[in-house]
Amino acid sequence: MANEMWGGRFAEGPAAIMQEINASIGFDKRLAAQDIAGSMAHAAMLAAQGIIDPQSAEAIQQGLQRVKAEIDAGTFTFETAREDIHMNVEARLAELIGAPAGRLHTARSRNDQVATDFRLWVRDQIDAIDLALADLQKALCEKALAHAGTVMPGFTHLQSAQPVTFGHHLMAYVEMLGRDRGRFRDARARLNECPLGAAALAGTSFPIDRAMTAKALGFDRPTANSLDSVSDRDFVLETLSAAAILAMHLSRFAEEIVIWTTPQFAFVALSDKFTTGSSIMPQKRNPDAAELVRAKTGRIFGALIGMLTVMKGLALAYAKDMQEDKEPTFDALDALALAIAATVGMARDMEPDVKRLRKAAGAGYATATDLADWLVRTLRMPFRDAHHVTGRIVARAAERGVNLEKLTLAEMQAVEPRITEAVFEVLGVANSVRSRTSHGGTAPGNVRRQARRWLAQLARSGKGSGKG
Ligand code: ARG
Repeated sequence: MANEMWGGRFAEGPAAIMQEINASIGFDKRLAAQDIAGSMAHAAMLAAQGIIDPQSAEAIQQGLQRVKAEIDAGTFTFETAREDIHMNVEARLAELIGAPAGRLHTARSRNDQVATDFRLWVRDQIDAIDLALADLQKALCEKALAHAGTVMPGFTHLQSAQPVTFGHHLMAYVEMLGRDRGRFRDARARLNECPLGAAALAGTSFPIDRAMTAKALGFDRPTANSLDSVSDRDFVLETLSAAAILAMHLSRFAEEIVIWTTPQFAFVALSDKFTTGSSIMPQKRNPDAAELVRAKTGRIFGALIGMLTVMKGLALAYAKDMQEDKEPTFDALDALALAIAATVGMARDMEPDVKRLRKAAGAGYATATDLADWLVRTLRMPFRDAHHVTGRIVARAAERGVNLEKLTLAEMQAVEPRITEAVFEVLGVANSVRSRTSHGGTAPGNVRRQARRWLAQLARSGKGSGKG
């Protein structure tokens, strides 16, 4: 049987394999709510412009409500023969209300329809991601505030570098997430133009009001060029790029959790809620959630590269290639939502081992820079000379197998006779972090101020629509 929507010139139906490769209903049914909202806005506009009669428009609105109710209730039968969500909805509408349904597709095409639906769907996801990220920032700020003074080793090259505070380390991620949210916000702002009414590719001869449908669907304005409207998916690419960068950030935190929870580090512990056991090794507590957050990055990067590849070299305007935009995007954004939620859970759950962190913070001569700075400040030594003197003192400590503050004054004076007792003040890790009060530095006072500033900002924006 030829297709009920477009089969006029076709005598036969499609080959089974044609139907299988062509149909998107198996996945684009996720766009049902957006598709129905778009159709309602379109029908209302057609009536307002006198393009269809008010009775038909009314029948269409009521029919679409019923279709929506069926889908929400799970009683709707999605049919592969009807290809995609657009034709499934319209065909069911025709079954429910008869002839007036045939007027709905006036002055539109599935090309502008799908572009509109998918923008609406991606926009909803961006809003949900923004809320979830705000929640993650809040969880991190709260933990940071509780551990603003908890000293831990700071690393470069994953080698002990200088002591920092646990709170400062967490606040680094709050900053990253702030930029991630900005990227999603930017993507949303550019995405928020309505393609509906571009029709197949050239616009339409009907006197449509595109500003009206754009407004009804919460878009800022209609898109300006009909060809561009139906043929670009850069809004998907921008969203997936923001998702990829965010996933990269989450994977770094996840990796740190994996490292920190190994018994050799034991910097932080996760509770039973965020770990799993081993079926053979009874002692194990594995950070599976962190590992999976780290790994989800793969499919999210994959979605971005996949979509870039689909779009590359496509001649204007619409081509069926673009139907391949949905599955990877659904998958990537689902994975992202899960990864964010799991990270929120771990951020709240993790408990740093304060004593162990402090001990580790002093390992590896982490206050050597403090010693060098002391020589510069107190003895007016040029930094390069101070660096050299400190290096020789570190070598002594290494020979003896002790930390810097365990060296005697005499041992230090053997390298530099002008060193006094006062030096011991800067060799302790707590004093080291307390002295780092420069803008953006790790001093506990700074961390508290930053965490409070963010928490106040998050509370303010949480009261708004979240769409800012
Ligand atoms: N299912 C299609 C998609 O996702 C809808 C648009 C189809 N347009 C067409 N001219 N065949 O891209």
